Amino acid sequence: MADGKKLFIKTYGCQMNVYDSERMAEALAPEGYSQTQDASEADLILLNTCHIREKAAEKVYSELGRLKPLKAANPDLKIGVAGCVAQAEGEEITARQPMVDLVVGPQSYHRLPEMLARTQSGRRAIDTEFPEEDKFARLGARSTRGMPTAFLTVQEGCDKFCAFCVVPYTRGAEVSRPVAQVMAEARELTARGVREITLLGQNVNAYHGADESATWGLGRLLRALARIEGLERIRYTTSHPNDMDDDLIAAHADCAEVMPYLHLPVQSGSDRILKAMNRKHTAAQYLDLIARIRSARPDILLSGDFIVGFPGETERDFADTLALVEAVGYGQAYSFKYSPRPGTPAAEKPEIAADVASDRLQRLQALLADQQAAAQRAMVGRETAVLFEKPGREPGQLVGKSEYLQAVHALAPADMIGQIARVRITAAAPHSLAGELVAVSEPV
Ligand code: SAH
Ligand code: SF4
Ligand code: F3S
Repeated sequence: MADGKKLFIKTYGCQMNVYDSERMAEALAPEGYSQTQDASEADLILLNTCHIREKAAEKVYSELGRLKPLKAANPDLKIGVAGCVAQAEGEEITARQPMVDLVVGPQSYHRLPEMLARTQSGRRAIDTEFPEEDKFARLGARSTRGMPTAFLTVQEGCDKFCAFCVVPYTRGAEVSRPVAQVMAEARELTARGVREITLLGQNVNAYHGADESATWGLGRLLRALARIEGLERIRYTTSHPNDMDDDLIAAHADCAEVMPYLHLPVQSGSDRILKAMNRKHTAAQYLDLIARIRSARPDILLSGDFIVGFPGETERDFADTLALVEAVGYGQAYSFKYSPRPGTPAAEKPEIAADVASDRLQRLQALLADQQAAAQRAMVGRETAVLFEKPGREPGQLVGKSEYLQAVHALAPADMIGQIARVRITAAAPHSLAGELVAVSEPV
């Protein structure tokens, strides 16, 4: 076993990439690699990339440009590209940037050690297959680096084929990890001090994992996870409206461990655009779903994703989006200008004028920012449970997350990191809250 080698990973894109980066580091640990935050001392640099919008995909090439001097100074340095750009572009990456030694798609991360060995003998390693073997069963043991929160991917890929989206092509068909594997990983994380797990999937609420005799939906999985001793909080992301079944909605009412926060992207409020996007639901169906979720868990904080300027979007369609946002009242949201992606059906259609799309994005973001500010202000004077994660900016302060996933700062002793405490909120800013400790909650 070689030792003393340094690995630098830069992660772009979604939380699934954050999880994957952790798993890559874990897969390389037995090869003697430990992580560094300083690219200039690295023996191996991995860029874990995102292909979702053009800007995201181009970032990898500008970063590779910046890394050139490091490679020139140290010919033994290996540079690898992982993630969704690797999957989508494969060998094109090495054609555009010949200094790249390794290109690995998301389904082949367990093969990294052997790929790296190939690069060590001066050859290039490219693997963008969708292998038969179970990647997760071959990846190393989890490490938590002392954090009380962790991600756990339970589902990968997507069969929805929204007309704008590259994910079904970069991540492949929908696959769910077996129940026993998920439960084992959750127990392992909890035994290492994790108190909150966020289940991940490109389409997490389409989870349909097998046990010996049946197929479990996400609601059933949440209930089983909620019974793990020491696991106090469970979240999941990202969900599709059409996969929000009754059992999953009921889990929000039945399980105190399931946090009152839900990211449920709708993309548009116009039925015409939803149809063109291949979302397979109407605005009214989405609003009805929100009503059912709120009747199960009235205090739930809702988050969403929106695309403006989809091909064919008129001012009237956009007004429908604003109306839907008004009707829902989001506590938090992400909004994007449509970006045509190679190989997707929408990329064939004529784009709308860039200045029109930019103007709409600004108007939507102003409304969403108002809603978020209102949701933050509404917390002032309330008590909420906060899981402290790390020291805050000011001395003596810790920062953690409320049940509603809001960042909360409070004066608290450092040994409360990893604990859940009652905090009374005293002040609100757009992206964080400040509060005072009330009392440490007793474990149930
Ligand atoms: N279900 C996925 C969605 C991934 S993409 C998940 O697990 O997160 C995240 C968001 O990016 C989408 O909800 C959509 O709002 C946005 N997006 C996807 N493709 C896009 C495109 N071509 N242009 C602009 N935004 C896009
Ligand atoms: Fe993309 Fe749609 Fe699948 Fe989400 S549901 S990953 S937006 S194709
Ligand atoms: Fe990006 Fe791939 Fe995630 S395209 S959003 S990194 S699934």
